[in-house]
Amino acid sequence: MPQLVSIQEISEETGLEESLLRFYESEYPSELPDKILQGDMLAFDVCAIEAFQRIHDLHQGEQLEPTAGEGRYARVIAVTSGKGGVGKTNIALNLAIEMQRFGKMCIVLDADMGMANVHLLAGIPAGNNIRDIISSGRDIVDIIAEGPEGIGIIPGGGGILSLADSSRHDRMKVIDALRTVEKEAEVIIVDTGAGMGSSVRDFLACADDLLFVLSPDITSLADAYGLLKALHHEKMSERPVYSVINMVETLKQAAGVAHRFSSCAHEFLGRNVENIGYILKDSTVAAATVRRTPYSVFKPQARVSKNTRNIAAALLKNEESTIRVSSAFGRYMNLLRAQKM
Ligand SMILES: Nc1ncnc2c1ncn2[C@@H]1O[C@H](COP(=O)(O)OP(=O)(O)OP(=O)(O)O)[C@@H](O)[C@H]1O
Ligand SMILES: [Mg+2]
Repeated sequence: MPQLVSIQEISEETGLEESLLRFYESEYPSELPDKILQGDMLAFDVCAIEAFQRIHDLHQGEQLEPTAGEGRYARVIAVTSGKGGVGKTNIALNLAIEMQRFGKMCIVLDADMGMANVHLLAGIPAGNNIRDIISSGRDIVDIIAEGPEGIGIIPGGGGILSLADSSRHDRMKVIDALRTVEKEAEVIIVDTGAGMGSSVRDFLACADDLLFVLSPDITSLADAYGLLKALHHEKMSERPVYSVINMVETLKQAAGVAHRFSSCAHEFLGRNVENIGYILKDSTVAAATVRRTPYSVFKPQARVSKNTRNIAAALLKNEESTIRVSSAFGRYMNLLRAQKM
């Protein structure tokens, strides 16, 4: 029988007020053990005392530097769009390369339900994918492929966000494996595919940053707004939302699309969407694809590569100085648990 403690006992033990403990409980559920039913009330395992204390220490700022790999998580940036074919996969991959060049350890997670093709653009063989965790009990470490310039690539095998045909246990196993990656990498860029499916939207609600890719095509703007609206009405957090306008002919065109998207979001949903950059339409992208090389590697001095570098720099500038003690995949796991998969 595990030793159980109530929130009052944790409060007495740690000297932290109950209201603060409840705040930590709602903010950092993935950091705490599951509650256990004791009689007619829910109690924590005794190890929660230490977990609450640790959250508190980290939350207090930098007084307590966490040891590497413990209590600090990668920044999880979800790249999405309302409409397909706007450049998400190219942007996810090249952004990771540019961020890696800025000294961040980056991993690209291919979570596209349809065309999982990050590995194709990166020029690496299909190899293992995340579904092998379930089918052959592989370790996540064996699944991370080494991509260009040392970035990591996790091939999704199509549909890891839904895993519709898997049991609850299997799904949790995959998400748990991704949580371990979150402790090792500094940035995880997730190519989510176009985000209209509900499981993709669930994940988008949990990511640290949302990067909406739009093209100048008018349907791209309408579909991006449709997705943002759906997220807003469902479960979206207050975490940052950015737009990137891709395949533009001129800066003026990019500014126009970004402005329309931000205005609609602000006016109708009361949400801030910050434009974090644009990428010009450039034949380098197609030329790099033919060579199965990311454009940032193929031609680092091309306009598209410079544009992508600027976006990487802007995202890193916005990096919170605080230590991320809350895990995006942990939040996703909790959301799925709450939905009683
Ligand atoms: N800046 C650009 N200039 C020119 N062509 C581009 C640019 N960005 C992307 N493309 C082209 O647009 C097409 C779609 O790109 P990509 O596959 O990255 O989009 P996607 O949003 O991931 O698509 P999907 O929704 O199908 O996953 C590709 O043919 C790619 O070469
Ligand atoms: Mg894609």
